[in-house]
Amino acid sequence: MSKNHQKVVLVGDGAVGSSYAYAMVQQGLAEEFAIIDLSKERTEGDALDLEDATPFTAPKLVYAADYDTCKDADLVVITAGAPQKPGETRLDLVDKNMKIMKSIIEPIKASGFDGIILVAANPVDILTYAAQKFSGFPKHKVISSGTSLDSARLRVALAKKFNVSPVDVMANILGEHGDTEFAAYSSATIGGKPLLDMAKEAGVSMDELLQIEDEVRHKAYEIINRKGATYYGVATALMRISRAILRDENAVLPIAAPMNGEYGLDDIYIGTPAVINAQGIDRVIEVPLDERETKAMAASAKTLKEIATAGMA
Ligand code: 2OP
Repeated sequence: MSKNHQKVVLVGDGAVGSSYAYAMVQQGLAEEFAIIDLSKERTEGDALDLEDATPFTAPKLVYAADYDTCKDADLVVITAGAPQKPGETRLDLVDKNMKIMKSIIEPIKASGFDGIILVAANPVDILTYAAQKFSGFPKHKVISSGTSLDSARLRVALAKKFNVSPVDVMANILGEHGDTEFAAYSSATIGGKPLLDMAKEAGVSMDELLQIEDEVRHKAYEIINRKGATYYGVATALMRISRAILRDENAVLPIAAPMNGEYGLDDIYIGTPAVINAQGIDRVIEVPLDERETKAMAASAKTLKEIATAGMA
């Protein structure tokens, strides 16, 4: 990957995609940023609008494009797909979005693209699995936003509870990015101190922690009920993952990664911390789980496998 000139392609210029594009321009990440969407007019408008931001941030080429542009891209980020409507779960979207994913992967592959794919359309674990299968690309080069957003939500909630900065809360949501996800409390720390010890000292019960987990699990619904969609949180999570790839950071981030025996799982993408660099997923960090978490991971994987198998059939 060229360190001097990096190119990112966004597929899907909806609320999540355009927020991601804005975050990328703000951060001055990637010298070239191409946008693809079924609505060429919208991408052209967004490219013109975003290029107006570049003199204030960093020189950067932003333009609307077709799939051919993927051929020399370092990273393609896919946010295209039907979003959840109020009352819908992420898993309800699988049939619609699986078809859309196939129609996107085919021209990306045909372009000769040889970089990293980052998937953020829902249900994200299953669509990432499908994107890897449809493309035949190496598994470590097809990444998913997974539980990055959920983990951020957990850190925000714990930061409020324990009155510390969310930046300093090390805590992950693992499993499906969806209704079966769970908080890996047994490995969470604040300032190197186990969260469970901190909770005990502060008089915060396990029931309260499970209430926080539940609120995190339902936070997307709360946002969707109020404003119709979620986008700033996920767009910023995508920017963070993109930076780890483009800057070859070896950053440890919660994403959805392909399982190769970790957590006793195979042939599935699921939320776990992993080391991310220019090659994509360098390695999965298998977090030790307690009894509750082990059961939750198995249940989450079972749900994902069932839906993925039905969706791919
Ligand atoms: C979110 O969690 C809807 O998956 C989206 O915000």
